[in-house]
Amino acid sequence: MSQWKMAPTKATFTAILLAVATISAATALEEIPKFLQICDASMETEKFEQCAIESISKLQPYLQTGVEKYNIPSLEPLKLKRLKFNPATGLRMQAKNLNIYQASNFKINKLKFNLDNLHLQLDVFLPNILIEAQYDINGKILLLPVYGSGNLHVNASNCIGACTIQGKRYTDSEGVEKVHISEFGMKITVGKATFKIDNLFNGDKVLGDIINSAINNNLDLFLIELLPLLEDVLSNAFNHTANKIVEHFSFAQLFPNYPENRTGSGRLRQ
Ligand SMILES: *[C@@H]1O[C@H](CO)[C@@H](O)[C@H](O)[C@H]1NC(C)=O
Ligand SMILES: *[C@@H]1O[C@H](CO)[C@@H](O)[C@H](O)[C@H]1NC(C)=O
Repeated sequence: MSQWKMAPTKATFTAILLAVATISAATALEEIPKFLQICDASMETEKFEQCAIESISKLQPYLQTGVEKYNIPSLEPLKLKRLKFNPATGLRMQAKNLNIYQASNFKINKLKFNLDNLHLQLDVFLPNILIEAQYDINGKILLLPVYGSGNLHVNASNCIGACTIQGKRYTDSEGVEKVHISEFGMKITVGKATFKIDNLFNGDKVLGDIINSAINNNLDLFLIELLPLLEDVLSNAFNHTANKIVEHFSFAQLFPNYPENRTGSGRLRQ
């Protein structure tokens, strides 16, 4: 008789163990850290978008410093080894050891987030992007021969960055549904920019000033070359950071109460 008593107890014990194991597997996901404000996905679109704006703004200080625990690198400064440009025929310019500052200093102008297809359109205002680098220049600017190497300072102010971000849901190796960013495009328009090139002609100030003003009067030629590179550096950095943040959490943690079945189709909301 006692065997009959034992058996269900054992079974219950096993069931409890299994339940505990299942629960702890389900909670093996990390808890949402303080720096990440989560938005209730059942809110109406406008409120959800407002919450998303706040959420990104609250992240900004962490983007500046990075977060070691989550392998989130600091955005200050962004680094680029080398870039070459030919702003005009007969003029070669190279820059190396570029440091790009203030990419984390932005203000969100507009945010459109379609939760159903995870498409995010984000316009940010970047008041001041600064680039410090070493340059090397050789050739002619407006028929004037020019050569030199030294420090280059670029100040691009009142920039708008229009970001097109595509997220994708996927199931990870443990069967947890997650999100990653599959595309991150960024178009930058610059309000005002200045280039300052030190030490042209081995430091001849008069000639150096002439060339600097020639460059600044023909800045479009330089910006056309520079902007696509800047867009690449910034979008890669933002993309990398965003993926580093979301990879730790499940879709359900990031978008709680997402109305999966609102239209019965599983993914679509009206
Ligand atoms: C960059 O340019 C803006 C606007 O012209 C100016 O306010 C700012 O002080 C400049 N920053 C640096 C570091 O030169
Ligand atoms: C964004 O990051 C993901 C994951 O690291 C990568 O697969 C994708 O190619 C990146 N896209 C861009 C535009 O950088």
